[in-house]
Amino acid sequence: MKILVATEKPFAPVAVQGIKEVIEAAGHELVLVEKGTKADMIAAVADAAGLIVRSDKVDKEVFDAAKQLKVVVRAGAGYDNIDLAEATAHGVCVMNTPGQNANAVAELVMGMLVTLIRNRYNGTSGTELLGKTLGIHAYGAVGRNVARIAKGFGMKVSALDPWVKDEVMEADGIKPVHNLEDLYRNNQYVSLHIPATNETRGSVNQALISLLPKNGVLINAARKEVIDEASLAAALAARTDVRYVADVKPDNAAELEEKYGDRVFFTPKKMGAQTAEANINAGLAAANQVVAHLKDGFNRFQVNK
Ligand code: 3PG
Repeated sequence: MKILVATEKPFAPVAVQGIKEVIEAAGHELVLVEKGTKADMIAAVADAAGLIVRSDKVDKEVFDAAKQLKVVVRAGAGYDNIDLAEATAHGVCVMNTPGQNANAVAELVMGMLVTLIRNRYNGTSGTELLGKTLGIHAYGAVGRNVARIAKGFGMKVSALDPWVKDEVMEADGIKPVHNLEDLYRNNQYVSLHIPATNETRGSVNQALISLLPKNGVLINAARKEVIDEASLAAALAARTDVRYVADVKPDNAAELEEKYGDRVFFTPKKMGAQTAEANINAGLAAANQVVAHLKDGFNRFQVNK
C-alpha cells in the first residue's frame, strides 16, 4: 500500500531514511512530498492508505480527496492542524506520537531564554537563571522536560496542570500550583505548554501577563493561538519591563519587533521539534504506528475516538 509523508518542514534526511526502511520492510511504498503545497498533498493523497504529517493542515478537502485513506499520524504532539470530525466522518483513524519530540522543544525553550537574558550576545551584561523562579503552564511531556533542564540551571520550578497529581510533580521536585493567577504572579519566567483547543485559544491575555513580577518573561513554544495577540501587545505597552519569546511567530510579530525591539524574540520558523533526534523519534514512531494500524488496526494513540 502507499504511505504518503507530506511535510512542509522536512524531516532530517536520516529520519526520512529510517521512515522509508520501516515502511518498505512492511511491504509498503513510501511517497515523499516535502515543502509541497496543499495541492501537492491533495494530489498525492488520492491513493494513499496512510498519511504522515507534522503541522501540515489536514482538512475536509484532503479527506475528500483521500479515497483509500485509513490512518493519519501526526509525527509530533499537537494535532490542532487535523480536522478530527472530518477524519471520523471519513472513517480515518488519527494518531499522534506523544512525547517523541518533547526534549527538543524543551531544549529550545531554555536556549531561547538564555538568548533573551544574555541580550542576544551583544556584549552587554545580562542576567542568570540560577535561583530564579520558573512557572510551567501545563505539565505534559514538554513541560516535564523543561522542568528537568531548568532544575539543572538551579531554577525554582513550579507547575500548574489540573490533570497531573501533586505527588507526581513533587516526586519530580516541582512545586504544584493550583491557581492560574498564582502561577503568573509568583514566577519571573512562565513557559507555556498548553495545547491549542477551543478552551485555550486566546486564553493567555493582558490580565494574566500583567501579573508577572518585575522583569517577567513569557515563553511560548506551544501555539501562537493560545495567546490573545492584541492583548499581548497591550501588555507589552503597559509593562515596559515584561518580555516575550516565542517559537511561534505571532501574526503581529512585525509590529511587536518594531515597537519593542530586544524585548521580544521570535524564531523565524517553528524550530522546537526541528532536531535530527526528534525527527527520528517522531518520524519512526509515526511510521511504525501507520504500519501497525494497516496490519492489525493498532490505535493506541488515537485522538479522534
Ligand atoms: C508538536 O506539536 O509536536 C510540535 O509543535 C512540533 O511541530 P512540528 O512537527 O511542526 O515542528
